[in-house]
Amino acid sequence: MMSSPRSQDYRTFLAAAFREPAAIGAVAPSSTTLARTLASVVPSTGQPVVVELGPGTGSVSAAIQRRLPAGARHIAIEANRNLAEHVRETQPAVEVVHGDAGDLIPLLAGQGLCRVDAVVSGLPWTLFPLPVQRRILDQIGIVLAPGAAFTTFAYLHARALAGARRFHHLVRDAFDEVIVGRTVWANVPPARVYVCRRAVRSG
Ligand SMILES: C[S@@+](CC[C@H](N)C(=O)[O-])C[C@H]1O[C@@H](n2cnc3c(N)ncnc32)[C@H](O)[C@@H]1O
Repeated sequence: MMSSPRSQDYRTFLAAAFREPAAIGAVAPSSTTLARTLASVVPSTGQPVVVELGPGTGSVSAAIQRRLPAGARHIAIEANRNLAEHVRETQPAVEVVHGDAGDLIPLLAGQGLCRVDAVVSGLPWTLFPLPVQRRILDQIGIVLAPGAAFTTFAYLHARALAGARRFHHLVRDAFDEVIVGRTVWANVPPARVYVCRRAVRSG
């Protein structure tokens, strides 16, 4: 019997998480509610360019696609080769780049881009050491167009972990406006969404 895309997504996600738990950092793809909240900053008019970091099996990609108008571009940067291939196959409108979010600026340059209208992240920030968190956040701040937003999420249960606390402080220093939304309970595990605007340039 043909499996539904959803169960196939779960299987692909679990296989990746099993092989590389330290790079995936989750037990399941984001729920529709979390995905929709993350994608709410994506412009639904004009011809926006949106970057997604760590699409996994594409649950957030689908929410971004639902908002995007015709003529928009949606670049998704995924470090795991199998997951990159999965999103390429299941969501052909998404321009999937197999690469490291830490190389955001050169990867975007390779797509002929230097400014974007939104960055939506599914990255497992708490697993990254400080220099990696900083390197990615700095580049996000540089590529965001004036007024554009960056969204990401943090799992509720992990908020006391050192990596999560470090990320929280880092993101508050990196952006002038940081709004932490209400807990999305309809997700495994429950998570909070950060909406950040106006990067603060250091130095
Ligand atoms: C927690 S999963 C989230 C997947 C998906 N966005 C979702 O919400 O269901 C994290 C994803 O980030 C990817 N990832 C981890 N480190 C990365 C990096 N440095 N650059 C790009 N992708 C990365 C993982 O391979 C995985 O697909």
